[in-house]
This record gives sequence, structure tokens and C-alpha cells, in this order.
Amino acid sequence: MGKILDGRKLANQLNLKLKNEILGVIKRTKIKPKLATILVGEDPASKIYVNIKHKTCTQVGIDSSQVNLSGDINKTELFNEIEKLNQDATIHGILLQLPLPLKIRDFTPQFLEKISPIKDVDGFHPINRGKLFDYNEELAPCTPKGIIALLEHYNVEIKGKDVTIINRSNLVGKPLIFMLLKRNATPTICHTSTKDLDRCIKQADILVVAVSRPNFITKEKIKEGVIIIDVGTNRVEGKLCGDVDFEDVLEKVSMITPVPGGVGPMTVSYLLRNTFNAFKKQININ
Ligand code: GUN
Repeated sequence: MGKILDGRKLANQLNLKLKNEILGVIKRTKIKPKLATILVGEDPASKIYVNIKHKTCTQVGIDSSQVNLSGDINKTELFNEIEKLNQDATIHGILLQLPLPLKIRDFTPQFLEKISPIKDVDGFHPINRGKLFDYNEELAPCTPKGIIALLEHYNVEIKGKDVTIINRSNLVGKPLIFMLLKRNATPTICHTSTKDLDRCIKQADILVVAVSRPNFITKEKIKEGVIIIDVGTNRVEGKLCGDVDFEDVLEKVSMITPVPGGVGPMTVSYLLRNTFNAFKKQININ
């Protein structure tokens, strides 16, 4: 029976530790960290995610504000909103919730580049992406950071492991490659044009899946003893589930993340950690 990698439990522990660190700094400096989120349009899932981020900010002592913008906004208006937050010294972190509405989606890279790199708590600015290339994870994307933290917490040896990642996005797959290389793993990225996906899945010591397809991974596909990180967030009949048939694979894996309660809470925890890192840098403390 596989061991459950309990992301919710670890995230709660990390958030508590962070809360104490934040309290200490507020006591010393009388300054409170603050995160601003920008939500464009009415995507229901994005609204839920942003609300969770604000709620967790409150729990650890980070102030937060939300900028809600109409889905009809044009490019210049969004640039101006970002610039206002860049100029506001009381804001230490800026998060532009993705995906953006179709009308302006093509400009996503320009919007992300507009966010001040020192306030870029998502780690999506080209400067922070470049730093990750040099294995600097100070402001690196939160989901891969959360995945690595979860593996390390459960003493999973990453060095030398064959890690298959089925996802090539800027949010998960691409940044995760650098974090794995830093730790001397052998990562393989799979995508829609991968010739022999089944072979890549079967060879994995650690399998990271983010394909947005419920039950995509079943026991026939995996190697005995594999560690599975399920990054899927699908809704089936109103219930959240991942990309892995959890019950089916449980006997065959050595470890697995549940959905919900696996990677999701870890992502939020690292958003808060990044916000605190950005805050400390901006007010010049360690
Ligand atoms: N949409 C889904 N995940 C994320 C994330 O980590 N950051 C942002 N900004 N948008 C997202």
C-alpha cells in the first residue's frame, strides 16, 4: 500500500512556521507584508483559487488586496493597473491570476514582464526565470517548489532518479526541470508529440502528472514502487480529482499525493513564502 504524501499537513506546518517568522519581523519593523492579486474576468475556478490565496494570507499575517478587472479590459488598461501596484510601496508581492481571458491572453508574457521582478511572487518574470536557470530558487514558481518540498520532507532521494514529467508548461514542467537537475535527477518531459509516452511513464521512479484528464494514469501504466505526484485539478460531478486513478494505483505505488490535499496546498504555501522573501528583500532585512 502506497504512503500518502500529505500536502495539506505539511503546508499547515510550513504556514505556521512562516506565521511565526512574519510575526517576529512585524514586531521588529512595524511593517506588514502585503500581496496584491489581479483577477481579470469571471473564470469561476480562478475566483476560487484567488480566494484561497487571500484566506491563507490572512492566516499567516500577510495583508492582501484584490484588483478585480472586467474581462473586457484592454492591454493598456491592464499594463496601467500593474504599474500602479509596482509603484505602491505598501505592496510587496503581485500575482496576476492565469489564464487571462482569450481577448488578451496572447499578451500574457508582456504582462508578466511588466510586473516588477522584485514583486514577482509567482516567479514568472524573465529575470526570475533566468535566475532559476542558474539554480537560484529565491523567487521561483510555487507549484514546482511545493513538489520538491514535499518530496524532500518525506525523505525521497531525488539524486539519480528517473523523473518523468507529463507537462511542459511554464508553471509546472519547465521550472521543475531545473529544480530536478539542481538535485541531480534525470528529468524527462513528455508532451502531446512524445513518441513513446508509455515507455516514459513505465521507466519513471518519480512520475509528475499534470494533463487535466481524470484517470489518465492507471496501474497497468506504471512501474511497481513508483512515486506519483498528481498535479491534476479536474472537476468530476462537482468533485475535485486529479489525473491519477488513485484507488487503482494505490497498491502498486510506494508514495502518492492525493487530490485534494496534495500539491494544491503546497503551491499556496510557497506563494506565501515567496511573498515573505520578496517583502524582506524590499525592506532590506534577512
Ligand atoms: N493559475 C493556475 N496556477 C497559477 C499560479 O500558480 N499562478 C498564477 N498567477 N496563476 C495560476
